Amino acid sequence: MAGDGGGRGGAAGPGTEPQAPATAEAEAEAAAEAAAAADLQVAGWVDRDAAVVWHGFTQMAAYADNQPLVIERAEGRELIDVAGHRYLDAISSLWVNTLGHRVPELDAALVAQVGRVAHSTMLGNGNSVVVELAEALAAVVPVDGPHFLFAADGAVAVEQALKIAFQFWVNRGEPQRARFLALGDAYHGDTVGALSVGDGGFSTSVFDPLRFPVLRTPGYADPGWSAKACAAVSAHGSELAAVVVEPLVQGAAGMLCAAPGDVAALGRACQEAGVLLICDEVATGFGRTGTLFASEQCGLRPDLLCLGKGITGGYLAMSATVASDRVFDAFLGEDLGPRTFFHGHSYGGNALAAAVALEHLRLIGAHQVLDNVADRSAQLARLLDREVAGRPDVAAVRQRGLMVGVELAPPGPGLRWGRRVCAGAVRRGVLLRPLGDVVVVMPPLTITEVEITRIVDALAGSLAEVVG
Ligand SMILES: Cc1ncc(COP(=O)(O)O)c(C=O)c1O
Repeated sequence: MAGDGGGRGGAAGPGTEPQAPATAEAEAEAAAEAAAAADLQVAGWVDRDAAVVWHGFTQMAAYADNQPLVIERAEGRELIDVAGHRYLDAISSLWVNTLGHRVPELDAALVAQVGRVAHSTMLGNGNSVVVELAEALAAVVPVDGPHFLFAADGAVAVEQALKIAFQFWVNRGEPQRARFLALGDAYHGDTVGALSVGDGGFSTSVFDPLRFPVLRTPGYADPGWSAKACAAVSAHGSELAAVVVEPLVQGAAGMLCAAPGDVAALGRACQEAGVLLICDEVATGFGRTGTLFASEQCGLRPDLLCLGKGITGGYLAMSATVASDRVFDAFLGEDLGPRTFFHGHSYGGNALAAAVALEHLRLIGAHQVLDNVADRSAQLARLLDREVAGRPDVAAVRQRGLMVGVELAPPGPGLRWGRRVCAGAVRRGVLLRPLGDVVVVMPPLTITEVEITRIVDALAGSLAEVVG
């Protein structure tokens, strides 16, 4: 099975080691028995899983047939399944993991915080570790006079930003500024507001009746996207609350990349029209693109910045909407008065997540993680260029830092090349997951030289096997 790890670089699990067989034949027999036992073990967990768990973006009637992995533990950048098979986590557990799994310092920060308090509400009260985190983040985010509204998911960080932008103009006495401009191919999450500024895709058209209308201009796939967006901002500025953008990379669209200057131009157009700029850095934040935030490469100082995914290094659910002091100040007024932002989530500012996020931020600097991103992304670019990009079945390789999309070019629809190529990589012990026919490669930021080679070998090997 695609997810069984049999015969790949993974060690067998406890209790599956062959017992010193006397002959080569006996050795092969013992190995086959161990593999069969491991398969059974995995299948048992998959059955239990399918019986009670509902997986996101997954057709549950086909879940078990698609040979899912059931992970039990991890070491470094490898995930280990219930039968002991190892998989290099080359998608950073859906783009959240930064430093690898079970980082001793992050583990220790979590344990230390458990000894203090796991969670206390942020509604009307504070928590010391959350204050420390906000102070540390304030020193590095590209936002003027930043204030942090914490939540748990990236979509909620976006949802909060939309509501803040909307109320900002109400509080300022300009309620007619109520529309949002968003880009084609955008993805901002799955809550209804985030879905609305997102541009569909992922079979979400069933929810179209729930979406509120937005002003849509083309995404990064159109070379003229920036000029078109800037023109729309100038033409509709007086009715726009904000422009929402994923700076540099539209990740879920298949790693569509923009030139920093084009994104900068959009930022300037917003300033000239007095429209708020919301930068959604849920995917690009915390070093993925080579700088701590992609906005930095574009020279942007957004009014609202959305953070999530990597904020805790991939340990715990945390997100944040960061508002500039100009935005924040518009909400100041009398106690319980109408200028108040009446919004907040039970687990916003979770203390365990904050403690890990604080230590994570320190480690990014202390371990010079961005230097590793520069070195390893250059190596990855070289290897992909040599082993993958020139193939006739590959349409494009797009990369910013350690965010990579390899777009396959199947000869017709319905061939599921993306899924089949990733399954082939999994059989080789490297966990990849596609976006349609785009194979995403997004390893942890501490990935090593040897591991980068392992990822490209698995991808190239799988491509050769699946598409010839
Ligand atoms: C740019 C962007 N915004 C928002 C989200 C939603 O984040 P979450 O899945 O944590 O809700 C994602 C998720 O991939 C994303 O890529």
